[in-house]
Amino acid sequence: MNLGEQVAAHARATYPACDLPHILEVVAYAKDLARRTGADEETVAIAAYFHDISRVTMGPKDHNIHSAEMARHWLVQRGYPTQRVERVVAAIVAHMRPVTGPERELLSLESRILYDADKIGRAQGLGLLGALVQLGQQVPWDELSYTELATVIRKGRAATEEAYRSLYTDAARDLAGPGYRKAIDFCDSLLQAEVFKAHPGQ
Ligand SMILES: [Fe+2]
Ligand SMILES: [Fe+2]
Repeated sequence: MNLGEQVAAHARATYPACDLPHILEVVAYAKDLARRTGADEETVAIAAYFHDISRVTMGPKDHNIHSAEMARHWLVQRGYPTQRVERVVAAIVAHMRPVTGPERELLSLESRILYDADKIGRAQGLGLLGALVQLGQQVPWDELSYTELATVIRKGRAATEEAYRSLYTDAARDLAGPGYRKAIDFCDSLLQAEVFKAHPGQ
C-alpha cells in the first residue's frame, strides 16, 4: 500500500460510518479543486482525510488543532518528509473558519482548497437542511409555527450565503455556483408563500 492508500484505509477504519460521507466528499472536492488550480493534490487529499479526525474522540472544540496534531504524529511515524507534513498540518489548522485580515494573503493554496472543499456543501444549502433538522428535533411537526419555520428558512438562507461568500477560490465558486443558486431560489420561493408573508418571522 502506498501512503495515499494507507491514509484512506486509516480514515475508513477511524471515522464512524455516519461521518465518512462528509470526509469522502471533502477528499473528492479537494482533489478536484487541486486539479483545477494547480495545487498539490497529495497534500490536500491527506489533509482532507485527516481534517476532522479528532472529533471522533475529542468532540468539535478546537478540532482543527487536535486533528492537525494527530495527522502530524501519524505522518511522522511513517517517515513522511517534514516539509510536506507541515503543509498538511497548516491546511488542517486553517480549515475551520475563513482567515481575515493581512494573514489571509499568507495562506497557502492548499489551505484555501481544504477550507473550500469542506464548505462547498454548506454553500449549496446543506446549512439550510441542518437548520431545518435542528428545528424538527426541537419542535414536533404539529406544534411548529409558521413564524418559527420562516425564521429557520431565513437563517438557513443566510448561512448558505455566508458559506458561499467565504469561499477562497474561483474554482470552488464555480463548483458550488449552480447548487448555491438553486438553494437561494428555493428559500426565496418558500418565503414568497402567502402563509409566510402573513408570518414574517424574525
Ligand atoms: Fe472541521
Ligand atoms: Fe469537515
